[in-house]
Amino acid sequence: MSGQLWRKLTRFITLTLSLAALVGCAAAEQTAGVTMTLDEPFRPQYHVSVPQKWANDPNGLVFYDGEYHLFYQHNPDDIVWGPMHWAHAVSADLVNWTHLPIALYPDEVGTIFSGSAVIDHNNTAGFGAEAMVAVFTHNDDGRQMQSVAYSTDRGRTWTKYAGNPVLEPPKNIRNFRDPKVFWYETESGAGHWVMAVSGGNIILFFTSSDLLHWETSGGFGLTFGATCGVWETPDLFPLPVDGGPETRWVLAVAIGGCAPAGGSGVQYFVGSFDGRTFTSDNDKDTILWADFGADFYAPQSWSEEPDGRRLWLAWMNNWTYAQDIPTATWRGTFTVPRELSLITTAEGVRLVQQPIADLEQLRGERWQWRDEVIGPDSNLLAEVGGETLEIAAEFAIDNLGDSDRFGFRVRRGDGEYTTIGYATKARTLYVDRAQSGNVAFNNAFGAVHTAQMSPIDGLIRLHILIDRSSVEVFGNDGRIVFSEQLFPAGDSLGLELFIDGQSVKLNALDIWQLEPATFQIENPL
Ligand code: FRU
Repeated sequence: MSGQLWRKLTRFITLTLSLAALVGCAAAEQTAGVTMTLDEPFRPQYHVSVPQKWANDPNGLVFYDGEYHLFYQHNPDDIVWGPMHWAHAVSADLVNWTHLPIALYPDEVGTIFSGSAVIDHNNTAGFGAEAMVAVFTHNDDGRQMQSVAYSTDRGRTWTKYAGNPVLEPPKNIRNFRDPKVFWYETESGAGHWVMAVSGGNIILFFTSSDLLHWETSGGFGLTFGATCGVWETPDLFPLPVDGGPETRWVLAVAIGGCAPAGGSGVQYFVGSFDGRTFTSDNDKDTILWADFGADFYAPQSWSEEPDGRRLWLAWMNNWTYAQDIPTATWRGTFTVPRELSLITTAEGVRLVQQPIADLEQLRGERWQWRDEVIGPDSNLLAEVGGETLEIAAEFAIDNLGDSDRFGFRVRRGDGEYTTIGYATKARTLYVDRAQSGNVAFNNAFGAVHTAQMSPIDGLIRLHILIDRSSVEVFGNDGRIVFSEQLFPAGDSLGLELFIDGQSVKLNALDIWQLEPATFQIENPL
């Protein structure tokens, strides 16, 4: 029996047993869960997706007591955006997830927009030892203010702070949302809370000793970077440069328009943070994009990551067409979690993203090639295919004249495929989803997305993750990334290594079939 079939059978048995337990025993309702079958069209097999209805931004990412928490923007009543709640999922390993009941509901102050969560180790807010505190935007018909809720039972039940909101919008600032809060430790060992919050085309900073009283401490933006869209969902964190002793701060900012693949996307700034405000290392005209695909928005990194890694994930969608994508009962998927680092390049210090190594537990059947010269007629991958694949490839392009373009066509079927290619003369990496399947739901969807990517020591490395309705491409060890949704036919499972030109040298190619992750729903009734 194939691994996939076995998984399906086990899932069916678990589902049947869980349902039987729920029907037979009322007490079991508190703890029983069902395992998602993942069998609807386009349902991701190893990416977190909302079980039902609508989801957008990840919120409140924090690790506590053995669990990674993922809250997210959720409309439980429709498959389009609406009155926002915080939905909730937890995971011990960032691969297999349990969906918990909704954490935060709209209330008399407003609906619950994006925000973050911290663990209040020193009980600064007085909610209790090690309270998990969510700091979020209350939206009251466009009036936006920051509020607080807390949980003292590992995020299972939540109490809104009676004095909400804790921060009113500054004068003349209408867009005032998505607080990212973290503890800033000073050299003396003392510290304070910092909030980065968006305010139009600016990120505003506030500081606090107790999460409840906030003082303005600075701002960054207005004319920096890309400004042709509203700035949203900031994140701010330090990272070592080249793994060494030097640290720079990264300020990531989602922007509502003019991203490289069209529509919404994410830019970032590299600079310094003194506990009060951020200063960029680069001039105003430098624009750095985190992702060159169309579907990467509102990323947030985990607080308190136990291994000291900086990990983030994003909503895998684009506001241009998010509410039109052709899923039926649910809309909303997240990228795989990615580990972040900073490296020095000829252009300056740049952000690098790699899929977390924890995902390797999903690897199943493997194919491997070494030192092949590939010509246009070779059919190396005729026997390989699938809807959940991981590809790791290294090409040597010393003789740039040898090929014009090479790469992979994935999710190939009747008249459809998605191309992940490298154009050797233009030195661009690209993803072409014009023929990727259902592209008709929005004119902007079926496009080609490109990014400049120079070879490193004559090498082009591609690391690709394919799921039922997405492809993520990590070029040259995560220096250039594309996150893209696809909506191919379920039987478009072919894979091809293509060459336009004479030949290309393939140093190494590894392909794995990926097994589905396990997604449970707790208290589904
Ligand atoms: C970003 C965003 C946030 C806001 C949330 C509302 O996608 O617009 O700025 O808090 O979505 O759902």
